[in-house]
Parts: sequence; structure tokens; C-alpha cells
Amino acid sequence: MKWTLPQASDLAPRVDAIFFTLLGVTGLVAVAIFALMAFFCWRYRRGSSADRVAAPANNRPLEIAWTLAPLAIFLVFFGWAAVVYASFYRDDVKAMPVFVVGKQWMWRVQHANGRREIDALHLPAGRPVKLVLATEDVIHSFWLPAFRVKQDAVPGRYTTLVFTPTREGTYDMRCTEYCGTDHARMGGSVTVLSPEAFERWLGAGTPEGSMAVRGFEAYRRFGCSGCHEPGSSVHAPALRGLYGRTVHLADGRAIAADEAYIRDSILLPKRDVVAGYAPVMPTFAGQVDEGTILDLIAWIRSTKEDTP
Ligand code: CUA
Repeated sequence: MKWTLPQASDLAPRVDAIFFTLLGVTGLVAVAIFALMAFFCWRYRRGSSADRVAAPANNRPLEIAWTLAPLAIFLVFFGWAAVVYASFYRDDVKAMPVFVVGKQWMWRVQHANGRREIDALHLPAGRPVKLVLATEDVIHSFWLPAFRVKQDAVPGRYTTLVFTPTREGTYDMRCTEYCGTDHARMGGSVTVLSPEAFERWLGAGTPEGSMAVRGFEAYRRFGCSGCHEPGSSVHAPALRGLYGRTVHLADGRAIAADEAYIRDSILLPKRDVVAGYAPVMPTFAGQVDEGTILDLIAWIRSTKEDTP
């Protein structure tokens, strides 16, 4: 039986610090309470000579102190944990995207250059990665214990995990949301490689072309280019260089152009209409599958660099 998990991400030491501090503080309190209980049981046992004359019925300052002290301690823990938790969900547009799709009962992983894997995930050490999670059927939950990260894959939306692997090695990958018969067997392994070994691994075997190349094909096949290409007759927002920008919407909201925004714009185009444009785009729900949407996003993302 192993008592400690390896710490394989930048988040792991921060989570462990909270966990072990909380364990230490609550453990000390528990030990102190049991020690006092045992002492008082012995001291005031029947027949002991302890002084029972004029015992106080209550002690207001003591009661206030033992109420406020734990409150203060737990508020400190709350604040600390909230800061760490919030940092889990910060977006990082520079992080390397990896797309993970849950399906009864496997995890299908795709890298931006088109390399695919099933129930396995290869990552480079020392480089921030952003896992974009989707599901083709029910809710799954993607859990990497050694990285101290866990995130649900929810039908109809994307969820993300941003972290930096810090230690080379092979670690567990699990599904941790009950999702049917083979839930317990849904999982695999994560392999963290050195950056050079990762580049070699990534470069070997991408027969179908990168996601961005397939995304550009879909951009033309579905007719997106007819309106979104600069110089087209229909007035539609340009897509090149869109990823990571802030988009101002017709109703006054401002929204970051991330994976979820682009997906929603394809499937629910009337919801987030860009300021200055007419809501003329038709929905592509039911026509484009999840894989193709991810390809389209990968293409839009890839246009970031070559846009002035
Ligand atoms: Cu997928 Cu449990």
C-alpha cells in the first residue's frame, strides 16, 4: 500500500500543502480533545478527591473564544483553497492544447498535429498544457491523481484543465464519474516525456494530417469560407486570428474567444452575436460532429500566428 502519490504537476505541491496542513491542524485538535476527555474522565471519576466546590456553570469568554478561533482558522483555509482552486481554471492561451473526448468506455485523445491515442496521453515535461474535454455520450470525469487534477466531461459543452507536468514518468488516468457497465475499466495511463522525446513522439505517425489542415478543409466544405473569408459578399466576422481575442457582442457583453465560444457560435449562432453584425448565420447543429468542430477550432487557433 502506497501512502503518498507522486507529485507530477505544478499544481500537485499546492494541493498537497493544503491537504496536509488541514490534516495536521484538525489532527492536533482531535488529539487535544481526546487527551482532555481522557484526563477529565480520570480526574473527576467517582471517588476521586478532586475539588467540586463552586464549579462554574458557564464561562462566556471561553465559549466565544472557542467559537471564533475555529471560524478564523477555517476562513484562512477557505481563502487559501479558493485561490488555488481559481488558479486551476485560469485560461492560458499559450498552453499547448490537447483534446480529450470521453466515450463509453474509453478516452480518445487527439493532439493538434493530428496524432491520436486511446486510453493514453503523452505530455511534455515543463510545458503548460490545456486539456479540452468533451464527451460523445454521458458525463464522464477525467482524473489524473498524480497531477491532482480532475474535471468532468459534460455533454454539450467543453471543459478544460490547465497545468504543467513537472516530472517524467508514467501515471494513472481514470474515469471518476459512474458512466455505465465498464466505468471501472475506463482509464489508462499518462506518460510525461522530456520535451525532446515528446517532439519525437509527436512527430512519429500522423497519417491524416493535422487537425488544423482538416479544420481548414471543413471550413470550406461546410461553406464557412463563403461568408467569413475576407472580401466575401456577406458581412461576417473574420475568423483568422480570432482565437484568444476578446469579442464584443451586440448585447454589450464581452467574451473571450475560447473553444467553448467557437463551438457555441457554430451550434448556437444566435446566442452570442458579434457587435456590428446581423444575426444571419444558420446553426450547424446536427451537421457537424464533435471531432470536426475540434478540427475547426484547431484551424482558427492555427491562424493566430500568421495574422498581422
Ligand atoms: Cu466514463 Cu466513468
